Amino acid sequence: MPGQSGWSRGWDTTGLDGAVVAMVQSESEASPRTVLVTGATGLLGSHVAERLVARGAAVRALVRQGSRTEFLDSLGVEVVRGDLTNPRDCDAATAGVAQLYHCAAKVGDWGTWPEFQRGCMDATRTLAEAAGRAGVERFLHISSTSAYGHPADRERPVDETEPLGQNIWFMDYYTRSKVDCERILWDLADRSGLPLTIIRPSWLFGERDRTTIPRFLREFGRRRVLVLGKGDNPLSAVYAGVVAEAAILAAHDPGSRGEAYNITNQGPITQREFLDLIADALQVPRVRRHIPYRVAYGGGFLMEMQGRLLRQQRPPRVTRYGAWLLGRYLAYSTEKARARLGWQPSIGYRESIERTIRWFREPSADPVGRT
Ligand SMILES: NC(=O)c1ccc[n+]([C@@H]2O[C@H](COP(=O)([O-])OP(=O)(O)OC[C@H]3O[C@@H](n4cnc5c(N)ncnc54)[C@H](OP(=O)(O)O)[C@@H]3O)[C@@H](O)[C@H]2O)c1
Repeated sequence: MPGQSGWSRGWDTTGLDGAVVAMVQSESEASPRTVLVTGATGLLGSHVAERLVARGAAVRALVRQGSRTEFLDSLGVEVVRGDLTNPRDCDAATAGVAQLYHCAAKVGDWGTWPEFQRGCMDATRTLAEAAGRAGVERFLHISSTSAYGHPADRERPVDETEPLGQNIWFMDYYTRSKVDCERILWDLADRSGLPLTIIRPSWLFGERDRTTIPRFLREFGRRRVLVLGKGDNPLSAVYAGVVAEAAILAAHDPGSRGEAYNITNQGPITQREFLDLIADALQVPRVRRHIPYRVAYGGGFLMEMQGRLLRQQRPPRVTRYGAWLLGRYLAYSTEKARARLGWQPSIGYRESIERTIRWFREPSADPVGRT
């Protein structure tokens, strides 16, 4: 669990103290050692890779067969094809790697439990074990505020001391997978000294988003977006670029081994303000129609159950998770990252939303996907 870490073969056998680790890191900046990014064809991983390349790092990406790599190729990233659940592929990808950013996962509120099991837990365990064999100095895992489960609405923001896995819903596979991945990794940190740091972002948006912005654009285009409840609730949505910056800061901080950080907002914003910024960026009328939160949540449940019975491949238009992300009265504290890492978002909501929408409107825009 956070703050505890073990000590064993494969990791930390030299017993370097913080000062020496810092020295080793600054030397490695002079002559960069390889940094591995998983999920680099997706939203957050591509922002991490982009920022690491800008810092002069030698970036390698472990990419599935069939995944498109145009963006990574344009950055000059070394692309290694393989499967995260294959130990040999993970050994090849982690060879000679100093730091690892694990951004790959099956993401979203739709899919079967075996898909989440394989894409999240099996992949994470296989990769972490390979990182141990390779002596990787830092394993930066991207988790989610979903790892806390669904804590009850409240005034006080959720901080990193909050228990994981609260109130997991029926068939809430994404949430379960985020909890289980963290448990696997904290256990490896305790038992075998995995040099683990965890970032827990909230709902992400940005260029190359596959999950939510494309859905939003479709719904705005059809004028089907509604404000959930009054719309005055705090929204936890954050630009992937500022999460990538936090991840890189945390991975380079010797004191962040064994720590987790929430990265969830770029300042206070309500649901209504966020929807207004999207409408403004799209140059469409702002959303003024409301629907009670309970109606949206209940409707989402019914649509999900129907979709499950019919074995639909795509998520229904409304889901419980989507309603909860937009309409809950719950916030997450980023104080720990601000105080300990000196992290602060480098851009605000208006600019990052405009940037995102601009990217989606470019004729060449195509969220990096699979062929
Ligand atoms: N999106 C959000 O709102 C959000 C919020 C909080 C936390 N997070 C977390 O942030 C991380 C990155 O999310 P994202 O939004 O950037 O996701 P994304 O855009 O959907 O990208 C997911 C990445 O993981 C790879 N991947 C998926 N399944 C895989 C598998 N079975 N084996 C190997 N690679 C696989 C994908 O590769 P392909 O190109 O081959 O598909 C892609 O590169 C995830 O851990 C997610 O849970 C996301």
